[in-house]
Amino acid sequence: MAEHRTVPELMEENDVVDLLIRQHALIRDMFDEVEKASGTERGEAFQRLVRMLAVHETAEEEIVHPYARRKLEGGDAVVDDRLAEEHEAKKLLMEMDKAGPEDSRFMTNLAVLRASVLAHARSEERYEFTQLRARTSETERRAMAAGLKAAEAMAPTHPHPGVESATKNLLIGTPVAMMDRVRDAIRNAMGKDG
Ligand SMILES: [Fe+2]
Ligand SMILES: [Fe+2]
Repeated sequence: MAEHRTVPELMEENDVVDLLIRQHALIRDMFDEVEKASGTERGEAFQRLVRMLAVHETAEEEIVHPYARRKLEGGDAVVDDRLAEEHEAKKLLMEMDKAGPEDSRFMTNLAVLRASVLAHARSEERYEFTQLRARTSETERRAMAAGLKAAEAMAPTHPHPGVESATKNLLIGTPVAMMDRVRDAIRNAMGKDG
């Protein structure tokens, strides 16, 4: 039961807002996993977090923010603020990925990244998702959820070590390379040209 709730492909939610909020909780758990891990496990836990963030933030950028721009009261300002936050987090994520988990500043950077990513997630829930839910139909949110699920299918993520070996991850390389692949998958799934 508990397993099913944390494996994205098995998530029952068909509403994009429910899915994104569930992912926010998952991201928080994954930060815990990186903090608790040591040695090679730390690097593996960090890679799982990087994949999850690549899937999550790219899906928001491709699917949710453009919709929010059009549908929300003051949508442009709300989305521009969220994109600025995402940009900050991504910069640090890329630095950390390059320096690796053995870097002496890794844990300090991880704490900064965690604070920034989680504050960003709270702002999305408060300023973007609440309005989005109120201003879209169930059918619209279901269609957006389909795009998100296509992205998730590329990178099965699980907060507990040892499980991912059973599934083949399509996301490897730098965070930027991962985001590019996720973007392509979403555009294909949503029937848009690259
Ligand atoms: Fe985001
Ligand atoms: Fe988010």
